[in-house]
Amino acid sequence: MPISLLIASSDEHFRETVRESLVNIGNARIVSEYPEVSSNLYIRVLQDLERNPEAGLIVDLASDPDASLKALEKVKQAAPEIYVIASNYHADGETVIASLRAGASDFLIQPLKRVEFRDAMARLERTPRRAVSGASRLGKIYSFLGAKGGVGVTTLAVNFAAIMAQNKQQTVLVDLDFTANDCAMQTGSSPQHTLQEVGENLGRMDQALFEGLVVRDPLGFFLVGPPDQVEHRIPFTESMFREFASFLVEKYDSVVIDAGRWVVDEVVLAALQSSSTIFLVITQQFPSIRNAQRYIAALMRLGFNQDQLKLVVNEYQKKPDASLATLEQIQQTLNQPVFYGIPGSPAALAAVNRGRPVAAAARNGAGDLERALRGFVNKATGAKASVTAK
Ligand SMILES: Nc1ncnc2c1ncn2[C@@H]1O[C@H](COP(=O)(O)OP(=O)(O)OP(=O)(O)O)[C@@H](O)[C@H]1O
Ligand SMILES: [Mg+2]
Repeated sequence: MPISLLIASSDEHFRETVRESLVNIGNARIVSEYPEVSSNLYIRVLQDLERNPEAGLIVDLASDPDASLKALEKVKQAAPEIYVIASNYHADGETVIASLRAGASDFLIQPLKRVEFRDAMARLERTPRRAVSGASRLGKIYSFLGAKGGVGVTTLAVNFAAIMAQNKQQTVLVDLDFTANDCAMQTGSSPQHTLQEVGENLGRMDQALFEGLVVRDPLGFFLVGPPDQVEHRIPFTESMFREFASFLVEKYDSVVIDAGRWVVDEVVLAALQSSSTIFLVITQQFPSIRNAQRYIAALMRLGFNQDQLKLVVNEYQKKPDASLATLEQIQQTLNQPVFYGIPGSPAALAAVNRGRPVAAAARNGAGDLERALRGFVNKATGAKASVTAK
């Protein structure tokens, strides 16, 4: 049986060593790398197991053993069948027993030695694994990230959430663009509460409390975001986000995130790390493509994988004039297929002025744009085959 491996380590050197050691083992491949061993690790692991149910996990405990063991425990609770190899610099009785109790099946001492690693892979290969059952019961997180300002991130996130809700998915839209609060603007709502109250109430959060705190859009999705006053950077931290994300994926089908332009915000980075899909939104203008190139490079350095990242071209023109890039040029420059093209339409601006999503218009109201948005959601969620940018 081929070996598929998930690697969780905040240590780039550790991940690299595993990668290099695997090259020498035929029939082995890395499915995903997680650059942090956080309480949300199980969210990504479950998502990856859906596509690769046979995969084993190697967890590096070295940087923060207590937190890593807790993360490992949560992974095992969520996916009891998964084969886990724990690793640390110490292999004293206490360390090894603690990792076994947390659910590890094997242990490797660091620095990793080639022979020991190969033997561990052989044990993994020999262990009969029951395929981790079917689709994950956890909701999915879809993040929208702009390669430049004004490329349509908020428009796409709001309409994605709206269409998900219309498709009868329990959906939460989270606005993490703290400078704008545009999701509220585009949905015509004035939230009473913000992520600040969510953060303050995480310890006793349940669905009733959450839904009482946040806005319910007439289309059925929930919305929560930053305060309207730009001068207030609320105390909503990365670890709060991680706890919040666990609550959301356990209770809702889909979580849609307006990640704004990211610019190295640790809350946004945590959101991207928890996402099953990151939609990088660009236009055919060269500055946005150039920035997308920088973003993709940065995300790869941070341990994201290309499967997770999907390019969406907004205001897409099939036959652009010379000032804009063609689809082929974009794909070539970014070395990545374009996942979807959304046409430009005056209906987008009309929707913003109306303060309601395009998808909320009468079914025949928005024409091509609305059709493309629905096609995009269907393709992204695997709902049905649809027409992509051609
Ligand atoms: N497909 C489209 N066709 C025409 N106009 C569009 C389209 N998508 C978005 N727009 C318009 O472009 C403007 C910017 O959109 P939006 O606010 O969604 O972008 P953003 O990336 O979130 O911007 P910001 O960087 O300010 O957060 C809006 O006026 C919006 O109506
Ligand atoms: Mg925006």
